Amino acid sequence: MNNQADDLRTAFEAAGQGHVFRWWDELGERSKRRLTRQLENVNLGRMAEMSNAMAELKQPKQRTLSPAPAFELSNEKFPYNLADGARAMAPQGEKELRDGRVGVLLVAGGQGTRLGFDGPKGCYKILPLTGMTLFEVFARKLQRIGREYGKTPPLYVMVGNHNEAETRNFWQDHDYFGLNPDDVKFFAQGEMPALDADGRFVMAGKDALFTGPDGHGGVVQALNDKGMLKDMRERGVRVISYIQVDNLQVPVADPAFIGLHLSEGAEVSLKVVRKEDPAERVGIFCHDEGVPCIVEYTEFSDEQANERDGNGRLRYWQGSIAVHLFSTDFLMRLVERGMDLPLHAAHKKVPHIDPDGNEVSPTEPNAWKFERFVFDVIPMASNVVCLEVPREEQFLPLKNADGPFGPDGARQSYQQYWGSAVEAALGKRPSAIEVDPLVAENARELIERLKESTAAKQWDLSKPLHITAKSF
Ligand code: UD1
Repeated sequence: MNNQADDLRTAFEAAGQGHVFRWWDELGERSKRRLTRQLENVNLGRMAEMSNAMAELKQPKQRTLSPAPAFELSNEKFPYNLADGARAMAPQGEKELRDGRVGVLLVAGGQGTRLGFDGPKGCYKILPLTGMTLFEVFARKLQRIGREYGKTPPLYVMVGNHNEAETRNFWQDHDYFGLNPDDVKFFAQGEMPALDADGRFVMAGKDALFTGPDGHGGVVQALNDKGMLKDMRERGVRVISYIQVDNLQVPVADPAFIGLHLSEGAEVSLKVVRKEDPAERVGIFCHDEGVPCIVEYTEFSDEQANERDGNGRLRYWQGSIAVHLFSTDFLMRLVERGMDLPLHAAHKKVPHIDPDGNEVSPTEPNAWKFERFVFDVIPMASNVVCLEVPREEQFLPLKNADGPFGPDGARQSYQQYWGSAVEAALGKRPSAIEVDPLVAENARELIERLKESTAAKQWDLSKPLHITAKSF
């Protein structure tokens, strides 16, 4: 054992983790180097934080919750025309886009376990007629912004170690879907080890600890560590539009939302939809002791989740769709001050090797995994703005293998929404529909285009309808 490995062994033994060296003597040189490299990157100082996260899961901290204010929808009927107030916000956001001060941050480092797709979720073929992938949908939405405002916002894609190569290759093989490769940056998030029932690191092999992505909250540190914040600063990006790879209908950069964020002087803004079902599994924007935050649905008691106001509406109605705006300066301040987001523990099935070196694929949760959540930056912001948006217009997440948030359910909701736009403009709903994201961001825009178009009046709506720029 060389000095470096000796020092590591001493440190790991002192932390009660000496078992990671159990197979050291039988490892070859390469395996020894691999293990050493990995252990060097483990921050043993985090052990207490991990124990706290586990304890908190067993005994959640007491919260004093109350509903938080939001800019509510002024129009609850399709196609959700914007009220004058909301429309008045757009010019400031549009100017920000024209001035090239907006960057788009797409988080795509999750493992997509629930979808059961063997690849990065962004490569999933989702649109109903062409099978366009989620990544291409976002790229085309960005191109539309570029055409409209003369500047295409740079795209920052957070990936995990497990899908980085595949994601990069996918974009490269598809010529970045028409975007300038210099404006598409990939960066990998950090990893966290897992702990077994005895609080010991889970081993994935004789020469490797099990590690998993550190949650979308890892994005703050990763943006800094991988030079992305610096890149943003150099490009003059002031507002970061954060979206998740699973939301098919999300606008990549919404001028009215950006305008509101700027005019309110917010450091963080978020979009919510009205929660109708108390059991819906979304985080809730609310106040905890008067401080704005998002609390996961798991932390609400049934009683709280079901509380209603005088109009019979849920008191805690603000379901987070995980769409945020961050001011670049705010994120820089967080990293400069070394502010870590809290760790959250989850009990999961983690494949590993047992003390005899046999591979085990557990059928029941056996270990604790740790993640940070990006919305934990909200309580750290000096000013937070919450905007309600129409659910069917902006929230269509692909989460599961089936059900409403599975591929078939998502395609159905997608066609329902866009079919309604065609019906509103042309009087009839097509049998199936797909709208190229280059054509319109939402039903309002599509209706306007269709009403003005003479070509559209000739379309055969008894057949599946694929609307592209060439259709007009
Ligand atoms: C999340 C939110 C929930 C919100 C819902 C809206 C959490 C804990 N909950 O739920 O409040 O209402 O979205 O759809 O986030 N990701 C990474 N790296 C990771 C983990 C995740 O990049 O380490 C990305 C995924 O690729 C995905 C997104 O984060 O784009 C969401 O992750 P996921 O764990 O699926 O969140 P949900 O539990 O569905």
